[in-house]
Amino acid sequence: MNKNRTSESNSESLNPLQHRTILLGVSGGIAAYKACDLASMLRRAGAEVHAVLTPNAKEFVTPLSLMTMTRNTVHCSQFSFDGQWRPEHIELAKKADLVLIAPATADLLAKLANGICDDLLTTMVLATRAQVMLAPAMNPQMLEHPATQNNLAILQNRYRYEIIPSEIGEVACGDWGAGKMASLETIMATVGARLSSHRTLNGRQLLVTAGGTREPIDPVRFIGNRSSGKMGIAMADAAHARGADVTLVSTVEVDRPYPVILVETAFEMQEAVETEFDNCDALVMTAAVADFRPISVSEQKIKKTESEDIVLELTKNPDILDLLGRVKRKDQIIIGFAAESEALFTHATEKLRRKNLDVIVGNDITVPDIGFGSDDNAVIILTVDGGRENLSRMPKRAIAEHLCDILLGRFTALESPKVTK
Ligand code: PMT
Repeated sequence: MNKNRTSESNSESLNPLQHRTILLGVSGGIAAYKACDLASMLRRAGAEVHAVLTPNAKEFVTPLSLMTMTRNTVHCSQFSFDGQWRPEHIELAKKADLVLIAPATADLLAKLANGICDDLLTTMVLATRAQVMLAPAMNPQMLEHPATQNNLAILQNRYRYEIIPSEIGEVACGDWGAGKMASLETIMATVGARLSSHRTLNGRQLLVTAGGTREPIDPVRFIGNRSSGKMGIAMADAAHARGADVTLVSTVEVDRPYPVILVETAFEMQEAVETEFDNCDALVMTAAVADFRPISVSEQKIKKTESEDIVLELTKNPDILDLLGRVKRKDQIIIGFAAESEALFTHATEKLRRKNLDVIVGNDITVPDIGFGSDDNAVIILTVDGGRENLSRMPKRAIAEHLCDILLGRFTALESPKVTK
């Protein structure tokens, strides 16, 4: 475990903006003039700020002012050439901890709600995996318009998006009503709250498995299953966003800012997980590991024969979770998953106990459109101390966020001194 974690997390809870990379998007409304003060406040709070202006924003605030306030190059053009083969703005979108757009005009909200990316800022928002916070500012009639309300509702319901509501007051054109951008103090407080809740796994070493193993039969065929890796990748992403040092052992290739160990078979997954296990604070085993593999793998492609039948002899694979449950230390947490087609609670409880897990997440794989391969799941979560929760259908990332909260609670409990009477 990272020995500096306590002191680092203390300083971050005092100042959640410290060392965080914030993309400050500015769109073309009169409130854009406030972006300079906002950039300065964010930078003085310790954040690394990169401003991105839409073409219309440049009518209200100059790149030079924002460059001076952020002390960084200001990005305005989608097609600027900076001599790098990877465009700098895409790199920035990838490394951002948070995207804050203030002001967000009616036009910008409409583009984001519909996935239009016809300028640098909207392109970067589509390219980022970071939290996106929007501070709308516009004329009250424009805000009230059903089109804008509809776009706000779409964005509000989109995972990772948060609207910082506008305030009621006199707007620049002299009208009175809702549409005034939230005060800079409100924006700073909301950003701080969002960032502090998202660094809660700072310094924790998390090992996550994803995908289904493939057990070869011959050079072209294998025994596999329907796992897409989405659950495991969502878990790894959520933990990484909260500051954990994540290692993902996956059967699915993904490009991520944390280490990804690509494996194919149960044996390869076992080797990778066992190698990493000692260094981890928690293991989250979402992978669908094949329980059986062919006893022998043919070196040549198996040919059709005269006979109608072919017999494939299988043997048991190692149960990775079972083996690690036996050797886990008291300061390690293991979360397993259970894919069940009947008696979900009973079977999940039995696996929780037999495999010596701290938590098990059970999903009923007979329910259509959830579980294997889909973006959503509905699960029960059982803990070794008798806890039980039902999470109704929701995106896998939302389930992953919930599991991060559970991990945080268990880490905290492990560290609190036991009260003895
Ligand atoms: O990948 P997705 O398409 O997003 O789908 C997600 C999922 C449905 C695969 C996931 O939610 C899930 O249920 N994963 C567990 C699948 C599974 O193998 O369940 P199980 O009940 O057979 O295994 C119980 C636990 O033991 C699992 O944590 C599994 O990783 C582990 N196991 C199983 C067999 C084995 N040989 N070794 C293991 O470690």
